[in-house]
Amino acid sequence: MPTDIRFSEKALELKAKAREIADTYVRPNAVKYDKAQEYNYEAAKAVAEAGLFKTFIPEEYGGHGAGVLALALVTEELAKADSGFGVAFAVNALGSFPILLGGTEEQKKKWLPQVANGEKLVAFCLSEKYAGSDASGLSVTARDEGDHYVISGEKKWTTNGGVADIYSVFCVTDPTSKSRRISAIVVEKGMDGFTVEKTEDKMGIRCVPVVETHFDNVKVPKDHLIGGRPGMGFKHAMMTLDMARPGVAAQAVGAAQGALDLANVYANRRQQFGVPISQHQMVQQMLADMQMKTEAARWLVYSVAGQVDLAGPDGVTPRAAAAKCFATDVAMEVATDAVQIFGGYGFMEDYPIAKYFRDAKILQIYEGTNQIQRMVIARGLIRESQNLKHLEGFIPTEEQKTYSEEPAITG
Ligand code: CAA
Repeated sequence: MPTDIRFSEKALELKAKAREIADTYVRPNAVKYDKAQEYNYEAAKAVAEAGLFKTFIPEEYGGHGAGVLALALVTEELAKADSGFGVAFAVNALGSFPILLGGTEEQKKKWLPQVANGEKLVAFCLSEKYAGSDASGLSVTARDEGDHYVISGEKKWTTNGGVADIYSVFCVTDPTSKSRRISAIVVEKGMDGFTVEKTEDKMGIRCVPVVETHFDNVKVPKDHLIGGRPGMGFKHAMMTLDMARPGVAAQAVGAAQGALDLANVYANRRQQFGVPISQHQMVQQMLADMQMKTEAARWLVYSVAGQVDLAGPDGVTPRAAAAKCFATDVAMEVATDAVQIFGGYGFMEDYPIAKYFRDAKILQIYEGTNQIQRMVIARGLIRESQNLKHLEGFIPTEEQKTYSEEPAITG
């Protein structure tokens, strides 16, 4: 595992631009778009003009080729101002990664430059009503009809649905196969039979639409099959999640930092017992814990994102899951403590902190629940135990035990 974390000049430049946009277009309007449940097109336009959609796209397809660590830095800055806008940005990477990782050269040339210049937004259609954690249990089908596929069924919880132009849709192409059942196909906005049927009314991240996408015999040309070979969809989905989970983890770091900053300002303003509450040790302890956890999450995320950039996504699965799981649990804890520091005002919607709390919950659920992440981490650990055989000798077997099982009598 590579251990050094290198911030390229480009990555730092993009981070600075993201912070400027967050301060100018995202934070000042976060409450407005949250209440209206509307997409912040103004901020998305600024992101496009600043070239931030180029961050994760390789140079040969019109991007900056700045990598996953730069993507994490940009996402963190945007999410610090508004976690909903953070995911509205990061989901473009999630939806593009199947093309980037598994697409043919023609497919990359066709779609990635449009994503890079912000002309087209992207969504990722994996989850269904009855297939969430069990991502291989899909029911949406794509029927092979010679020169095209016909897609039928419904997807659930499509983030960016409606505003996106390009959808990476995971469909069953071979119901008889166990390991090659699924394929990923690009569906474009406006294709006959492709509709957004339900925009969800959500607890948090309300500025980004999460919808049901319906496919009523949608005819899609064969050259939209990602990679040109059927049956690769599940692998592409898993590889995509490995690449994208550091991004959602970065969103969580931003969300945690945003909540901590507000709590810090408020704790130094709010007076009780004749002093700012930041002078009370119990509040100090909360602030200190929030700071430690956020910082620990941040460097875990940077380390995993840096690993993907240096060594590619191979072998990153359990660490990407760990970053996602740890950082999103931290975001929920920090947002909860931030509300506590705001006291009664924290529970009120006229203060900005309640939104951080509502926004944090989904982080522990989407891009794989934290229960699934822990399962992935444990599977990785169990595999790794094969490399720890040299420690076997240090753990006595029943037969080798030399010590007495009787408790020692002292005194
Ligand atoms: N990379 C490449 N291949 C992988 C892989 C990986 N990380 N993980 C698994 N595979 C391959 C395996 O090698 C295996 O291949 P073969 O059949 O050729 O041997 C195949 O995939 C099946 O693997 P498993 O047996 O491990 O699959 P499983 O069904 O037991 O478990 C899982 C898989 C990890 C639980 C997976 O279903 C999972 O990640 N579930 C969570 C789904 C999820 O994260 N959904 C998020 C939706 S997106 C979203 O939320 C976005 C949003 O709104 C913003």
